[in-house]
Formats: sequence, structure tokens, C-alpha cells
Amino acid sequence: MVLVSGSGTNLQALLDASGDPAYGARVVAVGADRDGIEGLARAERHGVPVFTLRVADRSDRTAWDAALTTRVASYDPDLVVLAGFLKLTGAQFLARFDGRTVNTHPALLPAFPGMQAPADAVAHGVRVSGATLFVVDAGVDTGPIVAQAAVPVHLDDDAATLHERIKTVERTMLVESVGRMVREGWSIEGRKVRIG
Ligand code: GAR
Repeated sequence: MVLVSGSGTNLQALLDASGDPAYGARVVAVGADRDGIEGLARAERHGVPVFTLRVADRSDRTAWDAALTTRVASYDPDLVVLAGFLKLTGAQFLARFDGRTVNTHPALLPAFPGMQAPADAVAHGVRVSGATLFVVDAGVDTGPIVAQAAVPVHLDDDAATLHERIKTVERTMLVESVGRMVREGWSIEGRKVRIG
């Protein structure tokens, strides 16, 4: 099960990988917090069920989180992948999918958490950045790390060029890690995530 808010190139990589039965994982549904995004269109073209749950259509965040939890649970996913999902999941969601929700982030955490990671990395002048897949906990981009992939930061990079370079390694990292997690299982001890 994948949740998206935007262009969905990470989702596309998972959809492409799942076309091979040997991959061992498939995308059972795709959810979004907004309409009209390419991520939903990619899922529809692939014949995957989609839904949209907008915060604005609910009385408050808690009600939205409850609706999201119920909807995601209806697909009985082994793993929930946040792939460019630009909302924080809430307490109910975390309680229901604790240890089974992963998020991909465009920086080498714990450097540059938050919504502007590539811009923050360029502004700080770091020479290496990358992508991090982590297990979602109650913090913002703080959970135990599953995998990381690094890229160089060039002196003439802006946030967009750096983000595109990160996304090329991010998609590979995500596909490899999600496939292994679903095929081999995983355990979490403290901050260590062990696959297999
Ligand atoms: C990805 O780079 C992901 O790490 C980032 O959004 C992009 C989504 O791209 N997520 C965040 O910044 C979350 N804070 P995509 O829609 O093409 O997969």
C-alpha cells in the first residue's frame, strides 16, 4: 500500500518492480491527500485501486487520521509506504501500523528533516546528500533507518537539480528495500532495522 501527494515517480518504480512475480511484493492500493496528482494517475493506469482523503473534508486532523487509518486497514497491507506523502500521519495511524510504515526522505537523516531537505542541504553547503528510508515513528523524520543512499552535491546545484539526482538513487533504494522487507520480513530493535 502506497500513499502519495505528488508526481509519484517512487510509486512508479514500485509499480514497475511489482510487474515481475519474483519481486514478491505488489501495490494493493494507492492513497492520496489531494486530487488531480500524477501519482494517482500512475496507479490508475496500472489498474491499482486508488482513494483520496483530504484533510479539508474532515472536521479536524484527528478525524482525517481516523478515516485514513480505516481506509488503509481495509486493504490489509503488510507494509505502508509513504512515497512523497506530504502529511504527517497521526496517533491512530501510528498505533494501527506501528513498525509497518516506512517513509522515504530526500536527505541523509538525521541531517535536514522536514519539507525543504534538498534546499536546506544546498544552503548548508554539504558536499554529500542522499535519500533515507526509515520506519515512521511519532517524530518528524526521526524513525529507525532502513536504508540510505548517497549522492554528491555539486557547487552549482540548486534544490531542484540536487533533488533530481537524489531521486535517481532514492527509487532504486526504495524498490530494493521494500522488496526485501516483504520477501524476507524485518525486525526493529531500538534504532536498528534488520531485514531477514
Ligand atoms: C521524494 O524525493 C521524497 O523523498 C520526497 O518527495 C519526493 C516525492 O517524489 N518526500 C519528502 O520530501 C517528504 N518530506 P515522487 O512523488 O516523484 O515520488
